[in-house]
Amino acid sequence: MAQMLTVALPKGRLGDKVYNLLESVGYDCSEIREDGRKLVFENPASGVRYLLVKPSDVTIYVEHGAADVGIVGKDILEESRPDVYELLDLGIGRCRMAVAARSDYREDTSRTLRVATKFENIAKRYYASLNRDIEIIRLNGSIELAPLLGLSDVIVDIVESGTTIRENHLKILTEFMQISARFIANKSSFKFKNQEITGMTGKLNGVIKV
Ligand code: PRP
Repeated sequence: MAQMLTVALPKGRLGDKVYNLLESVGYDCSEIREDGRKLVFENPASGVRYLLVKPSDVTIYVEHGAADVGIVGKDILEESRPDVYELLDLGIGRCRMAVAARSDYREDTSRTLRVATKFENIAKRYYASLNRDIEIIRLNGSIELAPLLGLSDVIVDIVESGTTIRENHLKILTEFMQISARFIANKSSFKFKNQEITGMTGKLNGVIKV
């Protein structure tokens, strides 16, 4: 008998795109779209239960087996490098990881670079690969403010449409990582619910445009 799959889904910006994708392969998400405060949604007809979590928590639920599978951005996978299987590139939520600064910023390699970001590990790895000394200023959002206030020299952050950069008069210095949403699975679930997970992977694989 088929077992129920618990699926961790991100709230927020990526959410709508994910629900559209799931609906396009026959997993009803209409209840999630209703603007309530519910966090768990049962969908017995499709054999799934959805958990609605913060994007950066999807990997935690899946790694610990509280969810069997999940959908999460490559940025979060690269930041936390969880011990999970990455099964598919879903081709949605495309954006880039970029370095940006005030438009009048001039690089001075003799000084330690102050980098504001919520992607501390990604930023550290990137600058280590360039042998550049940095100081991380760890923020949780509105990163673009930091260089404007002189809190940092640059930011390492996600750029999607470029609107936030533009409206805050920053300039992109470099883009160094392509990002998109990924379908991930808990390692032991992949073994014990292989048929269900493979089934879901196959359906998603049939509609993705990579
Ligand atoms: C993200 C990111 C940028 C913005 C980029 O922030 O940190 O600020 O989106 O998108 P754009 O290029 O389309 O303008 P988010 O909206 O997730 O909010 P945050 O400031 O709380 O991180």
